Amino acid sequence: MTDSSTAFTDVVRSRRSARRFLPDPMSTADIRNVLEDAQTAPSNSNTQPWAVHVVSGAVKDAVSNELLQAYEDERESPDFTADYGEGIYLERSRDHGAVLYEAWGVARSDVEGRREVIRDNLRFYGAPHVAFLFMPALGDGVRTAGDIGMYAQTFLLSLTARGFHGVPQTILGMYADEVRKALGVSNDLKLLFGISFGYADPAAPVNDIRMHRLPLSRSVVIHGRA
Ligand SMILES: Cc1cc2nc3c(=O)[nH]c(=O)nc-3n(C[C@H](O)[C@H](O)[C@H](O)COP(=O)(O)O)c2cc1C
Repeated sequence: MTDSSTAFTDVVRSRRSARRFLPDPMSTADIRNVLEDAQTAPSNSNTQPWAVHVVSGAVKDAVSNELLQAYEDERESPDFTADYGEGIYLERSRDHGAVLYEAWGVARSDVEGRREVIRDNLRFYGAPHVAFLFMPALGDGVRTAGDIGMYAQTFLLSLTARGFHGVPQTILGMYADEVRKALGVSNDLKLLFGISFGYADPAAPVNDIRMHRLPLSRSVVIHGRA
């Protein structure tokens, strides 16, 4: 492998979701560089359908407060469903939950502990910045959402390459109306998820989690090769 492909592999394989951040903000130049990297993401017919709102400081805190209040009031307004069905995807999701709750020291039966984890999500895990990823409602939305995924991974890898961390959060999309209202975003734009980002807290055990991956043979079929 060349030096640059080794460096790329290192970045891709060391990216992981952080769930405890230091309060220190990133510089505006660093944030802009990550956004410029993410802007190079591929998209269907180069439509570049992402509409991104980045919040920091008092604006970020105000959005968080709205989300926390909506959570306490049980006012959910998701633009998209979050449904894993009844089979292996639900099982994998539960396995992932078990790993996280163990790291947080929250038992399955601890209802208030689990609610606090949700609140922690809605406080963006203490991150100083959040990027909300909106998309236009086109057709069934699947191809547009794929483009947003391309954007998000490019954004996350750029953070990693530059020494920062992020975590994509579907849970933020459960309160789409609140986010739109707080940021003055039109109802035509749908909220897929947000990415909280900044400096990961190196002392937080939850940031040491390495989520398990399936072996290639469970996900990939290679045709025409031994
Ligand atoms: C689109 C998307 C939404 C996610 N939503 C959440 C979320 O709401 N809260 C959370 O803590 N993690 C969330 N995650 C992080 C996943 O749990 C994480 O990517 C997965 O467990 C693999 O771990 P890794 O990112 O550390 O490799 C999300 C990830 C993706 C890609």
